[in-house]
Amino acid sequence: MQLNENYENLSESYLFATVAKKASEYASAHPEQKVIKLSIGDVTLPLAPAVIAAMHKAVDEMGVKETFRGYPPYEGYDFLRESISEYYARRGVKVPASDIFVSDGAKSDCGNLPELFGPDNTVLVPDPVYPVYVDTNLMAGRKIVYAAATKENGFLPMPDEKVQADLIYICSPNNPTGAAYTKEQLQKWVDYALEKDAVILYDAAYECFVQDGAARSIYEAAGAEKCAIEMCSFSKTAGFTGTRCGYTVVPSALVRKGVSLKEMWFRRQSTKFNGVSYIVQRGAAAVFTEEGLAQIGENLGYYRENARIIADCMDRCGIFYTGGKNSPYIWLKCPDGMKSWEFFDYLLREAQVVGTPGSGFGRNGEGYFRLTAFGDRENTREACERLYRLLKK
Ligand code: MLT
Repeated sequence: MQLNENYENLSESYLFATVAKKASEYASAHPEQKVIKLSIGDVTLPLAPAVIAAMHKAVDEMGVKETFRGYPPYEGYDFLRESISEYYARRGVKVPASDIFVSDGAKSDCGNLPELFGPDNTVLVPDPVYPVYVDTNLMAGRKIVYAAATKENGFLPMPDEKVQADLIYICSPNNPTGAAYTKEQLQKWVDYALEKDAVILYDAAYECFVQDGAARSIYEAAGAEKCAIEMCSFSKTAGFTGTRCGYTVVPSALVRKGVSLKEMWFRRQSTKFNGVSYIVQRGAAAVFTEEGLAQIGENLGYYRENARIIADCMDRCGIFYTGGKNSPYIWLKCPDGMKSWEFFDYLLREAQVVGTPGSGFGRNGEGYFRLTAFGDRENTREACERLYRLLKK
């Protein structure tokens, strides 16, 4: 018997699991204190009424023989794939419904997609970034190279001709920094991928937060359908973190070594995944109705206001930060040269506020810290008051 020794190269626990454990240990040891969590990007507003109505209707259909549904199609129901395709079309992006695969979320897809590629490929990952890209490729034993995202390059690394990458992860707007590429910048990544025969795995989970004209899809760049897969999710767009639904675009034009990646992905999904429930897919489709879009727009406005409140607190404390405009995260520099975990402990101990240490997102995240705007308004305000009292100069 042999174990997957690549697991030895992982940190002991997944970043957000470590944060949650530390926060709950502290809370158990200090039951008299109120701990406020602005750490994992989990939403706090309920699902939109249009989503709930569609799900209730679907539940009723499941209780009647004539409308009951069994296994869903592996790639998702056409009604949802078509609504997603129209959502892209409204932004001027052409994504045929037939290239869309519905899944239980972007996290699963970004962990599973690397299965389509051999173990000897080199993977290029921005640093800092969502830790799932690194962890899943470490599990598979792949070589990882990093593209440094620093204050100096606006947290938006650009391709380096000297680096040969086979798989390229891009997360824009970026988790954790909130930096978002323009269409012109993405074009450079697409041109680079085409030149190197690489495939881009583009995480668009935060596209709905873009406000300033930055790109919302890799397919805004010409030629992307020949080199890019895009993952997206209803988690942040419509509060589906507990409901679970996402989608991935694998274009028909994406072919390597004469093989269609879309066909490979269908083969993989139909073998290992039995789809998302009819009820959830009906709820997801309701997100893209006129009513649904207006309702999720209100929720996004609420989170944007939270981001503004946190940003304002940082301004008043004189702390450098970025993000919060095209993203629900504020990425701040830890004061007084503190390291990320040191600042985590300090905030927890002195203000009972939990955030996410920047070093958990990569080496370049050391000395930074992430706060989420997905919290409840009152808690966000209270956390900011505590932070101000503690950190004001
Ligand atoms: C985050 O906080 O970065 C994400 O919500 C975590 C996740 O999606 O797994």
